[in-house]
Amino acid sequence: MRFLVTAGPTREHLDPVRFLSNRSTGRMGFAVAAAAAAAGHECLLVAGPVSLPTPDGVERVDVVSALEMLDAVKSGLEDADALVMCAAVADWRPKAFAPTKLKKEGMAPVIELERNPDILKSIAPMKGGRIFVGFAAETGDPCEEATRKLAAKGLDMIVANDVSKPDSGFAVDTNRVTFLFPSGRRTYLPLLKKSEVAARIVAAVEAMA
Ligand code: C5P
Repeated sequence: MRFLVTAGPTREHLDPVRFLSNRSTGRMGFAVAAAAAAAGHECLLVAGPVSLPTPDGVERVDVVSALEMLDAVKSGLEDADALVMCAAVADWRPKAFAPTKLKKEGMAPVIELERNPDILKSIAPMKGGRIFVGFAAETGDPCEEATRKLAAKGLDMIVANDVSKPDSGFAVDTNRVTFLFPSGRRTYLPLLKKSEVAARIVAAVEAMA
């Protein structure tokens, strides 16, 4: 199969030195790309700004903003059989971009924001027979929100995790996740290394193909 995987945060620049972003380090997405390649699949990894080496056997495209990620996903999708959207896409971007560094004396006390497109929703019309997997990183009950997002984003599977726990989610090597499917089936996984969670995700995709 050919996997398309997104990873990391996006950065939404206000000027050349300032941006809005989030805590994603890209580890989960890079682990999925590595697991796909290790299982003998082709893999294109669309990575936001992260400091991680490209996994062996993976083709990588680097992007910065959500709009750039959307373009890269659209171009990679045609050749893909499965999309795994691990990226923590910034929901908002500053309305204006200043091409030179803003002077703090002249800076507005309020930064006007506009919504970024939802990448999964934007590409839903191009889905065809492809398998789409999303993530739901939540600070409350992860399954409740994940069930809503699974349907709203038209996914075949969503990986839910509680990012408020110190051993699960951002910037750690372990994750405790649940896979949710449109049929209502759920697979609860114990605390595992992200590489092992990634291998289970790849296996779940293979089982749906
Ligand atoms: O809505 P929320 O950001 O929690 O949804 C998470 C899922 O949606 C993830 O798979 C994420 O990569 C994807 N997403 C997206 N475009 C956005 C925001 C999130 O595709 N603008």
